Amino acid sequence: MNASTQRRLAIVTGGSRGLGLALLEAFERDGFRTLDLSRSGASDSERGRLHARVDLADPAATADAVAREMDALAAEAWDEVVFVSNAGTLDPIGPLAASSPADWRRGIDVNLTSAITAMALFVRAFQSSAARKTLVSVSSGAGSRGVAGWSLYCATKAGLDNWIRAVAIEQERAAHPIRAVSIQPGVVDTQMQAEIRASDRDLFANVGHFVELKESGALYAPADVARAMLALVAGEFEPGALLRIEL
Ligand SMILES: NC(=O)c1ccc[n+]([C@@H]2O[C@H](COP(=O)([O-])OP(=O)(O)OC[C@H]3O[C@@H](n4cnc5c(N)ncnc54)[C@H](OP(=O)(O)O)[C@@H]3O)[C@@H](O)[C@H]2O)c1
Repeated sequence: MNASTQRRLAIVTGGSRGLGLALLEAFERDGFRTLDLSRSGASDSERGRLHARVDLADPAATADAVAREMDALAAEAWDEVVFVSNAGTLDPIGPLAASSPADWRRGIDVNLTSAITAMALFVRAFQSSAARKTLVSVSSGAGSRGVAGWSLYCATKAGLDNWIRAVAIEQERAAHPIRAVSIQPGVVDTQMQAEIRASDRDLFANVGHFVELKESGALYAPADVARAMLALVAGEFEPGALLRIEL
């Protein structure tokens, strides 16, 4: 069966803009049907794109909505299914004394609690499917080192990386294993980068470095990163690995 006649599905969280949107477009070019899970995306029947509104700041509502979507999609026959947990936020940026427990909880809910919940619901729904299955968590260099002003972001990305390692080991025993991997996309020219450059220097001392990266043309284009990520997904990798995009 050639790629164009295969039934292929890609699910991406945070597909409304930035890297997530570029991933949806790249998957669609490769003949995948797609589902975007975000607050502000939209379905597009010409592109074969579905959208379900999900606010990751509300883990209970996220669990209900994602379970519904995954169970409905898993009832269909697929040759290949990819789930990319891409949505993320840097909020709250700044030293901890400048934010509140509600801010911290929100950052953890979006980046970790809801991200893990959505990925786990994908695993549960598709575990017994014989399709080729890949679970990708979009990581960050900040998950492997400390960055002042981004402590919650650093912690949640580190948590996701280790969750993926554990899931990969669990999958070794599964009859129809899911290939789990973390991918650091590099520094990508998206709204998240614009927000970093707009940070108050009192909250994020390293802002000048990111302004310099933008001005020197060092940021990766989202479409280039998406293409490189699809190539990784199409190939083989060590289960649970933390891979880096280098263009
Ligand atoms: N850009 C970089 O340099 C860079 C570097 C390393 C890692 N990353 C990682 O790459 C991923 C994508 O980042 P990006 O740069 O493309 O960021 P972005 O342009 O800010 O886009 C973030 C996406 O996440 C979604 N999102 C945010 N909060 C959400 C919420 N509460 N509920 C549902 N969806 C939510 C947004 O959708 P809605 O607003 O429509 O909900 C949007 O589609 C993130 O995981 C980020 O940590 C980025």
